[in-house]
Amino acid sequence: GKEPVKILITGAAGQIGYALCPQVARGAMLGPDQPVILHLLDIEPAKQSLEGVKMELLDSAFPLVKGVLTTTDVEEACKGVSVAVMVGGFPRKAGMERKDVMSKNVSIYKAQASALEKHAAKGVKVVVVANPANTNALILSENAPSIPAENITALTRLDHNRALGTVADRLGVPVTEVKNVIIWGNHSSTQYPDVNHGTAGGSPIRKAVGDDSWLNGEFISTVQQRGAAIIKARGMSSAMSAASSACDHIYNWVNGTPADTWVSMGVISDGSYGAPKDVVYSFPVTCKDGQWTIKQGLSIDDFSAQKLKATGEELVDEKQLALQCLQE
Ligand code: NAI
Repeated sequence: GKEPVKILITGAAGQIGYALCPQVARGAMLGPDQPVILHLLDIEPAKQSLEGVKMELLDSAFPLVKGVLTTTDVEEACKGVSVAVMVGGFPRKAGMERKDVMSKNVSIYKAQASALEKHAAKGVKVVVVANPANTNALILSENAPSIPAENITALTRLDHNRALGTVADRLGVPVTEVKNVIIWGNHSSTQYPDVNHGTAGGSPIRKAVGDDSWLNGEFISTVQQRGAAIIKARGMSSAMSAASSACDHIYNWVNGTPADTWVSMGVISDGSYGAPKDVVYSFPVTCKDGQWTIKQGLSIDDFSAQKLKATGEELVDEKQLALQCLQE
């Protein structure tokens, strides 16, 4: 059989970690014939709970799991990993300013960048889930110069999947009938879920839905505000869907995207579609042989161009704020 692949999950004792471990262990991230060794990292206060996760992984007797390492030492956690799913972070607490949350998180990502650079396997593929996901990924990249910037990405696949699900639900068709929506920009409420190039049952989404005012209004805000709606409904933020989307993100990156299909990924911007360069911006991408490529040549109407610009500006502001936090 295949050699096991080491996968790092940071923040593994948290909500998303708990939902992610069994999905990875079942092969949702690297495929049903790829054995894995899980490296689970969390911080000292979560140590006991992390041990509980390990106990449950053993109790589940997952055939693909060839080992589980639990640790609070980031250097140890990063040793030999080929995939790193960065979920660990500092949550926003009542009364905290945006800047305080940013400051805590970018410091974590700066520190973890060095450990990854030193200890991860060559070619490690990194996806940052923890918020601010795009900016954490950028800081990680800037502080791990020997890891190619293309290898460090941010999760916007959850937003992409939410857009697919929202269109499918509206049309009453299986989600597999809907494809090629796009999430542009930041994983935040300025993201732009774009249906202009997508199809449902083979026809353009705009034609299938036949309601542009819904697509230009409620659809966009539903996708943008979905995270808040889940918190309101569950009393906790999305975890099952975040974990599942993180698996989809890595699965397509490693195994490729199906023919004529793209997905959304937060990747280092080369300025495509007028996006600011050198920020981690969500684009439509196709994947092949373990590499992503930004889908080129899509037409962008004025309405969309405005939205691409606004979310890009937010990313530039976040980057400046992050760099300022790291200097202080
Ligand atoms: P959680 O609070 O349940 O878990 C976070 C875990 O990270 C905790 O166990 C905590 O101890 C750990 N942690 C904190 N600092 C750490 C460090 N320096 N190293 C390693 N671990 C550390 O939070 P949850 O619900 O699992 O969410 C995790 C993150 O994912 C949050 O930042 C959240 O905003 C973000 N998120 C992102 C989504 C996306 O689509 N990109 C979707 C949903 C959540």
